Amino acid sequence: MKHKTIIEPFRIKVVEHIKMTTEAEREVFLKDAAYNPFLLHSTEVIIDLLTDSGTSAMSSNQWAGIMQGDESYAGATSWLRMETAIKDLTGCPYILPTHQGRAAEHLLYNRIGGKGKVFFSNTHFDTTRANIEFSGATAIDLPSPEGKETGVEHPFKGNLDVGKLVENIEKHGPENVAAVILTVTNNSGGGQPVSMANARAVSDICKKYGVLFILDACRIAENAWFIGHREVGYHAKSYREIAQEMFALADGCIMSAKKDALVNMGGFLALKDLDLAISCRTVLIITEGYSTYGGLSGRDMEAIAIGLQEVFEPDYLDYRIESTAYLGNALTALGIPVIRPIGGHAVYVDAKAFYAHIPPEQFPGQALVCELYLKGGIRSCEIGSVMFGKYDEAGQLIPAPMELVRLAIPRRVYTQSHIDYVIETFAALLEGRGEARGFRIIYEPPFLRHFTARFEPV
Ligand code: F0G
Repeated sequence: MKHKTIIEPFRIKVVEHIKMTTEAEREVFLKDAAYNPFLLHSTEVIIDLLTDSGTSAMSSNQWAGIMQGDESYAGATSWLRMETAIKDLTGCPYILPTHQGRAAEHLLYNRIGGKGKVFFSNTHFDTTRANIEFSGATAIDLPSPEGKETGVEHPFKGNLDVGKLVENIEKHGPENVAAVILTVTNNSGGGQPVSMANARAVSDICKKYGVLFILDACRIAENAWFIGHREVGYHAKSYREIAQEMFALADGCIMSAKKDALVNMGGFLALKDLDLAISCRTVLIITEGYSTYGGLSGRDMEAIAIGLQEVFEPDYLDYRIESTAYLGNALTALGIPVIRPIGGHAVYVDAKAFYAHIPPEQFPGQALVCELYLKGGIRSCEIGSVMFGKYDEAGQLIPAPMELVRLAIPRRVYTQSHIDYVIETFAALLEGRGEARGFRIIYEPPFLRHFTARFEPV
């Protein structure tokens, strides 16, 4: 019999206490946090869907590995295990460990970027863009047309627009293109997958023009699941084989291990070119740590080596993708507008459509984030005009193209009943949706304002 209920393919050996709070208490907490959930204390949160990064629960095998961490400065066995695991997976001979993804981005993009250089991507993640722009280079997003339509169902909405890629390489001149970065899955574009056909087309174009092709692989196992289920010719392949095939197309990759390596901290840069690896390694040693630990302790590296195996287990990946879809489909059934189809690591709610009475200047996404917290103690993240809005010369807000709220699901942390509680909270928000109010910003820093901005209700 095929069961309807998706059970978590794990048993719980250690539990972490959640402090239950009342709506009245949360009102005080939220006011004290200036209506910005980034400023809440974690103990004030019941269900934390702020990010899927570094929030995974490790397995008993990973914890056992932690006890075997070899903390030798150079050539630790834990490093050798991590290096072997990454070499096997990526096919790259040169592996540089870093304390997290953005450190790897900084090493590579600072080395190959600089003034006059340009990078293309399906969508640059914020830290990717920030590292590129910090080097003086330009980051240009080239998402596929269907990736920009929230309601359109398409199996691979994370794809890069290859026609535009060719046009742009010709326009800027291949010698000025530092790299093409394919982000799998496409986090900023709704956690949507990239097809193998698209990755192959990007790879062919990069080879033709002699341009470096880098995978941002932090959610590559989740991406492999989608290829296995949606792309012709991949049903019989293992998720790991699919990922290996994609890695083989690229010249290297950057990975935040805080996602699909199922750990709380870590990352790496993997490259096929020796000269590039040597020049990045020099900076690695200056800024992160010696080349056999980067910014990591031996126990971290041990946990990464094990996590990179576990993440490709079919039972885990089936549960992971299907349980994210469970939340997204339940919200859709309630009539909550979400980006469709549901992506791998998160559900993205269209706050502009949900709170149509709140204009972008009053941040409908922030309103939804606050309501979710007040009604359910659920923490989520605005991805709209608070995060990406800019001002024109007259000081008027130029809104972001979309007003989204991301419900990111930590890996192996919450059970179906936690998710049912989230769904129930949304049902309550639906009832009172006309009463939700917008916000105005009363303090903002010059960069990355969403982390520390302070708000008051309009
Ligand atoms: N690339 C992508 C696609 C990411 O989603 C992230 C982080 C990074 C790179 C940077 O990795 O955090 O280890 O330095 N994303 C987190 C998120 C922060 O919430 O989506 P990092």
